[in-house]
Amino acid sequence: MLDSQTDEIKSKLSVEEVLAGYIQMQRAGRNFKAKCPFHNEKTPSFMVSPERQSWHCFGCNEGGDIFTFIMKIEGIEFYDALKLLADRAGVKIKNFNSADDSKKKKIFEIIEISRKFYQECLKIKNGKLALKYLQDRGITDDIIEKFQLGYAPDSWDLLSNFLKSKGYNEIDILATGMTVKKDRGGFYDRFRNRIMFPINNIGGQTIGYSSRVMPGGDESQAKYINTPETLIYNKSRVLYGLDKAKTEIRENDLCIMVEGNMDVIASFQAKVENVVATSGTALTTDQIKIIKRYTKNIAFSFDMDSAGIKAANRGIEMALAEDMSVSVITVPEGKDPADCVKSSPELWEKAVKSPKLIMEFYFESVFSKYDSDNINGKRKIAEELLGIIGNISNDIDRGYYRNMLSDKLGLDEKVIFEYENKIKREQSGFGERGFKNNNNESLKNVSRENQLQQRILGFVILRPQYFQDLFQDLDDIFLDNKIKEIYSLIKAAYLKENKLNEDILANLKNELSRQENIESKSDSFSNTWNVAALVVEEEIDEIGDVFKEAKTCVVNLKKIKLKEELKKIEMKMKTGLIQDDDIKKFDQLYKKLNDLDIE
Ligand code: UTP
Ligand code: MN
Repeated sequence: MLDSQTDEIKSKLSVEEVLAGYIQMQRAGRNFKAKCPFHNEKTPSFMVSPERQSWHCFGCNEGGDIFTFIMKIEGIEFYDALKLLADRAGVKIKNFNSADDSKKKKIFEIIEISRKFYQECLKIKNGKLALKYLQDRGITDDIIEKFQLGYAPDSWDLLSNFLKSKGYNEIDILATGMTVKKDRGGFYDRFRNRIMFPINNIGGQTIGYSSRVMPGGDESQAKYINTPETLIYNKSRVLYGLDKAKTEIRENDLCIMVEGNMDVIASFQAKVENVVATSGTALTTDQIKIIKRYTKNIAFSFDMDSAGIKAANRGIEMALAEDMSVSVITVPEGKDPADCVKSSPELWEKAVKSPKLIMEFYFESVFSKYDSDNINGKRKIAEELLGIIGNISNDIDRGYYRNMLSDKLGLDEKVIFEYENKIKREQSGFGERGFKNNNNESLKNVSRENQLQQRILGFVILRPQYFQDLFQDLDDIFLDNKIKEIYSLIKAAYLKENKLNEDILANLKNELSRQENIESKSDSFSNTWNVAALVVEEEIDEIGDVFKEAKTCVVNLKKIKLKEELKKIEMKMKTGLIQDDDIKKFDQLYKKLNDLDIE
């Protein structure tokens, strides 16, 4: 149902028309080219394909259709992008789940009424103690207002009774997470005698709460209690403060990630407004993807206690995996940003201006862990840092940090180099994983392999007439799961129809798009398909003999695979663990490799 609506919108709005509202495009053959709006670049690598109604940037690897584009550029969720484009296309969105919708609407209402209730409570009776506590922590009334802070009275039923007086029943209230159901029946207010921090969605509507124990309360137990998951509150997708920080994040092209709500608030107080926090969870990939709509740069500023370091490391790894550029802001004074702002807002303002590159941070933290004057310490430091340095993909950067390591340890670079090789040898063994992760040569192969796979799929799509001669027995050649899956669909269609042409492919592609979960567009099968086609489309006019080029790709990919197999057996040979079967296999592989060269 929703599919037919997105289709209808797409049929009324072309990709070039929608994107033209945001970027300048130039025609380039059957496509358009533009400078990418999502990263800084001098030469355009952002491609728009009217034929496939898709876009893709070869610089930052983002891509999708009109919906993903609007989500990213406007920083909104799928359903909001849908509404926006439906509006523009004059398409009426039917209520896809009206029962759910009316439930959600009620939850929003109740949460908002509660929020106002808590805000009022901050001004009276015990609430004044909470207010005083916030003021003592240096938070001004303006900021208290801006963040809509409140106080939940010390009572089991004050809030529920208030909500009931407004006409809501116990079941409605329970669905919002504001009450807890008793085992023996009945309900009680979840938040009692606590300072309340409303958690908002990107649009600024309150969807839940984080609550802090009052000063003097037992901080060791449940210092913070949050709303449980509800129809509108999904803790792994929400970021505290994002509704207020998003504009500044985009303008500064940097998102500062802190640990606690108080850190976000304090930072705003110091006029540093590109800050968000997770609420009672470790950072999730979903949250990183949301941040990525605004910026590719993320700076972590976590407590430097062991829990904080652990959390930061996990977050850093996750952000790197999402291809963000990562830095670290060390808190210049106190244990967290809130402490720092309290003693000196200027210090925090200054600190955020010079985030440390992630490598610099790793150097500092590893050097502070061991004694670098002592030979054992030097070894430990070298081991840990070389592991990290080895994973840097850029040669110059890698050399730079290797050099820095030898300098700092006072060791000749040759020694470091040899040590690195020794570690590599020890780690590689026969395990696929160790081998791949620690051997740069094979890392390079992996990316070349990816490229070849992508180009081959592109040739399959743009030159279906070659399928019989070139592509029909490639079942075992693809490593990438999506490409593999698409290939087997295409092959099945070819076998069924006894031929392959553009119409058959177009039908297949439509079928594929229809089946896909509409919300996961950027890593969808359709996107893999579109990008592969785009890659080849870009080069195809300059290729003289397309058939020959496509064949070369296939041969080269086969060669890489054979060489990898051979290498594994060679490693075994070196250690004398070789068996007869291996030798036989080696000969076969070698022959295959030679045959490929002759072909
Ligand atoms: P901290 O314990 O570092 O709190 O937890 P804080 O932000 O410094 O709090 P203040 O400054 O004493 O008020 C950091 C974050 O971890 C989550 C909360 O989101 C908190 O903001 N947390 C912490 C919980 O969810 N539950 C807890 O019991 C403690
Ligand atoms: Mn704190």
